[in-house]
Amino acid sequence: MRKYSVLTLIFIIVITSATYSQSSENQLNLMPWPKELKLIDGKFRIDTNFLVGLKGDGDKRIFAASTKMLRRLDARTGLFFKQDFITPENNPDSANLTIICAEPGVVKLGADESYVINIDSLKIEIIAPNDLGAMHGMETLLQLLNVDEKGYFFPAINIIDEPRFPWRGLMIDACRHFMPVDVIKRNLDAMASVKLNVFHWHLSEDQGFRVESKLYPKLQELGSDGLYYTQEEIKNIVQYASDRGIRVVPEFDVPGHATSWFAAYPEFASAPGPYKIERKWGVFDPTFDPTQKATYKFLGGVFGEMKNLFPDEYFHIGGDENNGKQWNENESIQKFMKEKNIKDNHELQAFFNNNLLKILTLLDKKMVGWDEILHEQMPKDIVIQSWRGKDAMIKAAKEGYKSILSNGYYIDLVQHTDVHYLNDPLPEDSPLTFEERKRILGGEATMWAELITPETIDSRIWPRTAAIAERFWSPGNLTDVKNMFHRLDRISFLLEEHGLLHLKNYEMMLRRLTNNNDIVPLKVLVDVLEPLKGYSRHSGAEYRQQSPYTRVVDAARPDSKVGREFENIVEEYLSTKNPETLDALKSKLIVWQNNHNKLVPIINLSPVLKEIEMISLNLSNLSQVGIEALNLLRDGNKAPVKWINKARALLEEAKKPYGQTEIRVTKAIETLVFSVTE
Ligand code: ACM
Repeated sequence: MRKYSVLTLIFIIVITSATYSQSSENQLNLMPWPKELKLIDGKFRIDTNFLVGLKGDGDKRIFAASTKMLRRLDARTGLFFKQDFITPENNPDSANLTIICAEPGVVKLGADESYVINIDSLKIEIIAPNDLGAMHGMETLLQLLNVDEKGYFFPAINIIDEPRFPWRGLMIDACRHFMPVDVIKRNLDAMASVKLNVFHWHLSEDQGFRVESKLYPKLQELGSDGLYYTQEEIKNIVQYASDRGIRVVPEFDVPGHATSWFAAYPEFASAPGPYKIERKWGVFDPTFDPTQKATYKFLGGVFGEMKNLFPDEYFHIGGDENNGKQWNENESIQKFMKEKNIKDNHELQAFFNNNLLKILTLLDKKMVGWDEILHEQMPKDIVIQSWRGKDAMIKAAKEGYKSILSNGYYIDLVQHTDVHYLNDPLPEDSPLTFEERKRILGGEATMWAELITPETIDSRIWPRTAAIAERFWSPGNLTDVKNMFHRLDRISFLLEEHGLLHLKNYEMMLRRLTNNNDIVPLKVLVDVLEPLKGYSRHSGAEYRQQSPYTRVVDAARPDSKVGREFENIVEEYLSTKNPETLDALKSKLIVWQNNHNKLVPIINLSPVLKEIEMISLNLSNLSQVGIEALNLLRDGNKAPVKWINKARALLEEAKKPYGQTEIRVTKAIETLVFSVTE
């Protein structure tokens, strides 16, 4: 056997592990993960001479998109590329990166979005049937950028990629809280980065009508508090989305969720006015009167005007949560139902929807609506967006309707990322037949805006929606949650490139909460707090449109990274009993244990923090219990009964929410306690 010096051995180990980390496909930080991918030997290194060229039949969009990609690369690497713009005149044959696309794509449902990337040490090619696929390829390329001691490079690789579902959306509610143009644009950029292709824009609600109407100007004058998009802004955003390969599907929610329309035009409601813009959250009574011809003339006018702003072939009419109260209490509506033999409110809504369908068909639009528009009297060419349960989606598909899944992707409910990630529109055990499966177009994450503002929206959408985007794009057998979280962390950081505030607003919010005092102890606490999940925040406080959404609960992240990492270390320690893991756990617990005393003086200077004083104390006590449990575990001792009782009492107390937040690490510490008490 040959003898190696210790130094040589260390050298070999370092080299082997470096090669491993660069050649292992698992180490790539791609999201969504491509359909097929093969790493090969080699690296393509970039320097200031890096040149991009386009071949094929590109249009303005691909020149602009490739120039933007070049600028993003230059911004990350600081290389001062010599090429400023990629234009038909500045399109070198000798490019290092050649983008080949046969034709401009059409941004519509079912467009080909496939692409191929080939990288070797000498050149890069992105090949796609059209520029939509080429743009996806450029986003993948930007995620592939890597670095070593010699500089920036792309790993040599072959990628063949295309989406699993054609409808991959994000809905933004711009009504409960208005979302200005720059918020929408930065989120469109982020959507394009993770290959989402539908921006569903929720534009009318009880709390606001958000588009300028020239035909019915009172809609924005009396229904929006002055917070609406002008028609020019809408056109600009639709173009911005199209430049990124994203369709815009507008939603005008009728017949319910319509109070703001009636603040302007009470004559179309099912009960006499006057009406005011709604300021609270929930389901309200005001509903369009489906029995009046004038209602359809009015809605036909509005929809006709909106058709000119929104070129997509799909038009969303909402249709959710009509409580039927105004219909039940209106004598003339009841008489109408008897005369027409309409047996219940659901059937009356189908009558209403069928009239809207006639209008939309004349306007060359296809109807989309929430679950509630599903009715035997509706034809099969409408699209159902399932929000109340997967069963509704399955029922719709079985009955012949196309559908989109949103149940399980309600990001306003601030659930952990893996819950959404593992929610598959078409799992292997789906009860749908092959034909029925084809009716599932995809899914949409829904960002309802009751509890968010332009300041916090990004932190509720990102990074969790990147994992949802992967579910819609990538092969269904991709279900490794740990690997997803590893990649998500990197993608979250890359998304900041678009000006998203999901990471950087956090410390700003903490600064405001401490009144510009030291934020470190508050950050230590809030790093392991999460907002209450589901709809429970609504039952705990009387929120209105104008309430402050600036408290600790608003700063806290839906899926605490620090908490999740702690859970992983606990799991690792319990299976390995590794002393270094023990030290890592203890050092975290000691920081949390000592944090309360550091935070109290800051709370005393910031009354807005009073509401989390108890949870800060609970984290401290909980951490003490965790340390004691670890000591017992290390020494192989079972816990004394008295200690168990004390630990259980503290655990119960630590499960209580304060300031509508809860401690993420309680469960992991409970696991440690169980492991010395059983
Ligand atoms: C909905 O969440 N009401 C569609």
